[in-house]
Amino acid sequence: MTRHLEASEAGIAEAATLLRQGGLVALPTETVYGLAADATSGTAVASIYAAKERPSFNPLIAHLPDLAAARRQGLFDANALALAKAFWPGPLTLVVATSPGCEVSELARAGLNSVALRVPSHPVARAVLQAAGRPIAAPSANRSGRVSATSAAHVLVDLDGRIDAVLDAGPTQVGVESTIVACLDGAPRLLRPGGVPRAAIEGVIGRALVLAGEAGAAPISPGLLASHYAPAARVRLEAEAPRFGEAWLGFGPEPEGSSKSAASLNLSLTGDLSEAAANLFGHLRRLDAQGVAAIAVASIPMQGLGEAINDRLRRAAAPR
Ligand code: TXA
Ligand code: MG
Repeated sequence: MTRHLEASEAGIAEAATLLRQGGLVALPTETVYGLAADATSGTAVASIYAAKERPSFNPLIAHLPDLAAARRQGLFDANALALAKAFWPGPLTLVVATSPGCEVSELARAGLNSVALRVPSHPVARAVLQAAGRPIAAPSANRSGRVSATSAAHVLVDLDGRIDAVLDAGPTQVGVESTIVACLDGAPRLLRPGGVPRAAIEGVIGRALVLAGEAGAAPISPGLLASHYAPAARVRLEAEAPRFGEAWLGFGPEPEGSSKSAASLNLSLTGDLSEAAANLFGHLRRLDAQGVAAIAVASIPMQGLGEAINDRLRRAAAPR
């Protein structure tokens, strides 16, 4: 049985207690819900991989309440420090070298000598992290390869009965996962576009960010598994309008004929990319739940959050 906890003082305290005991709790963050466990415990971390059916070569992000706590786990070079100061708390994850005192378990790091660190801005996440008093590993709270969860109800569709509790604070604000930047040696690299737009990051580091190679052998980042965020339906991108039998996921003004499609939703009628990001995973799940064979998706511009939205859509459409 998975318990449903309200995001009250009592619910937050209970979530922290469960985490300290090695339990699995789905937590709200500003990006998506995370499936949280004690990052310092190999056993607790192993249960994340099991519940998600996630390949254990894919490392996890450790969540901390503030920069000081993050600096006990990893070594921040000048770029990492500038990025942390500019965007934390918020939807940015930094991959840095482990510090000598790093407590994040080897399993959470998939054996790497680097560690992914994030200080989320969601007040409920921060309260749990404060109360837990240790790094908390949390991948997105969905079955591996499926669409990320942006509400407690979506968490339960994938994970009911597999986790101890879900802490429910309503739908998440940003809707796509954090931007991941590696600051390891030399120029920072973009491992995954996400909630902080590329241009904002480039503004802080004063140079263009290189997107890490897609065809890399070992998956240095999640995104490098081509098929990901996949609904059961096939996904057709950059569509002008739905074809017969396809569901329609629009962006901006609706084309002729979209209302005749099997099912139709719009990410943002006004073409607002923040609104589109917030709606993305929920709309994909809702269309998928109609049991359609295919979902046609309108073109999304590449500016701002559009890069993250297009990244997720490309993976949703990738061959499985
Ligand atoms: O917004 C988010 O980032 C959400 C919320 C819950 O915080 N979390 C999330 O976690 O998206 P996940 O596991 O779905 O994606 C994190 C990715 C991993 O798949 C992994 O490939 C990458 O971060 N990662 C973690 N540690 C890494 C490392 N040491 N080097 C390179 N990539 C790493
Ligand atoms: Mg994920």
